[in-house]
Amino acid sequence: MASILFVAGEGLPFIKTGGLADVVGSLPLSLTERGHEVKVVMPLYKKIADKFLDQFELVAEYSVSIHYQEIPVRLFTQTVNNVQFYFIQHQGYFERDTLYGYNDDGERFGYFQKAVIEMLNQVDYWPNVIHCHDWHTGMIPCMVKETHYHDQRYRGIRFVYTIHNLAFQGNFGVDILDSCLGLPYHLFENGNVRFDGGISFMKSGILYADKVTTVSPNYAQEILTEQYGERLEAVLNMRKYDLWGIVNGIDVELWNPKTDPEIPYHFDKVNVATEKVNCKLALQKEMGLTEDPNTMLVGVVSRLTIQKGFYLMMEQLDAICAANIQLVILGSGEAAIETKFTQLEEGNKGKIAFYRGYNEALAHRIYAGCDLFLMPSLFEPCGLSQLCSLRYGTLPLVRETGGLKDTVQPYNQYDKTGNGFSFANYNSQELVNTLNLACDVYYNKPDDWNTLRDHALTSDVSWDASATIYNKLYEELLR
Ligand code: ADP
Ligand code: GLC
Repeated sequence: MASILFVAGEGLPFIKTGGLADVVGSLPLSLTERGHEVKVVMPLYKKIADKFLDQFELVAEYSVSIHYQEIPVRLFTQTVNNVQFYFIQHQGYFERDTLYGYNDDGERFGYFQKAVIEMLNQVDYWPNVIHCHDWHTGMIPCMVKETHYHDQRYRGIRFVYTIHNLAFQGNFGVDILDSCLGLPYHLFENGNVRFDGGISFMKSGILYADKVTTVSPNYAQEILTEQYGERLEAVLNMRKYDLWGIVNGIDVELWNPKTDPEIPYHFDKVNVATEKVNCKLALQKEMGLTEDPNTMLVGVVSRLTIQKGFYLMMEQLDAICAANIQLVILGSGEAAIETKFTQLEEGNKGKIAFYRGYNEALAHRIYAGCDLFLMPSLFEPCGLSQLCSLRYGTLPLVRETGGLKDTVQPYNQYDKTGNGFSFANYNSQELVNTLNLACDVYYNKPDDWNTLRDHALTSDVSWDASATIYNKLYEELLR
């Protein structure tokens, strides 16, 4: 059994902006159940400090060098469900309104990574594996291997780097290489960390980790191509024999239609027919939609960005409005998409509802109350929203990309297989055709619909199968 340190920019139950936090909150539980010892470390953001700081224990105070000055670090901890969380505190760097997107992100996450590496020494904790997630942590394998190789305690550690989204790379100017990361300039000159004339945390993670993973088998294949490789396909191809695609799961206790405290009626396979429709009526009421159990209710819960395929929807607003559906959208993001959805709601009162913002409780009610869930992504490393909707018997309609292709099996009218609907190309007409197919099944073939809904409800969206593969990965690393 291994001792594993997860390093990440966010994680539940403390802070979440997207699926990364779900994974960091739930995969450790599954690994712990398999006998591993898992700890997690993340920055102590303002939102965490406001809510939890008085419950945390201060375990160490030390400093790391940034811009040739010693900058203080305070390390806090708390254990939840047998998983110990560490928090790196620096008010100036992290106690801001949002988590990412500042001009000094390179320095902030350079500091974070340095503080994590020194934390091992401070608390005398030497994991077998450091499992880094996304660009915020991509320099750790490089920093340890390049600057701590003389120290036997660090030399024994193996590194896994998981790519959750290749589109966010953490590319910065070369000026932070020495001053913030403590790395020699020749790593820029020899190309190891160089990208686009600067340095790339993502590229460094891919090159220096012992194993690289991404969050679905299909995305692992896609990112080796120019279309999905985000200009790192050549680097990824160099590591393709160490690149594993392991599909995400979700926490099936947190997302459980039988017990979910956020939803008004509870159901499972036995009573889904009666109780899910009650959830739907309650959601229609809550969102100001016409209360009608018979109209197909379509849901969206998402960041509103190009990744999620909303430009396809916008090309076909007339066709979507003409369909016999109601639409409920929860999300925030690009102003152009928000404005469009606001206008759409105003012109279609009772039929379309848009909640602009982030609302976890409402997300649960949308997964539970809708018939269909729309996720026509341009690219999707894994996607958790379609897994949540499956868990609540809401059929996902997705584009066949990344993890969506791995997790949603399209309806087959002949042998009645499938747990949702899908289309292949990033083409808005295909989206409309597939929506029309879903309407046809919903209104004209209710037996088929109910069969698909049962398949959705019984799809395995837990971590079970994937935790076993992570297990294998760690074993292979530590052999
Ligand atoms: P990504 O991480 O790319 O945003 P995922 O599908 O992997 O996409 O994960 C998104 C997670 O964030 C899901 O748990 C989803 O329910 C949640 N989520 C997204 N947008 C919102 C929102 N506006 N309010 C509440 N939860 C949201
Ligand atoms: C990223 C991806 C998403 C994935 C999530 C968790 O945010 O966009 O597809 O599900 O990470 O791995």
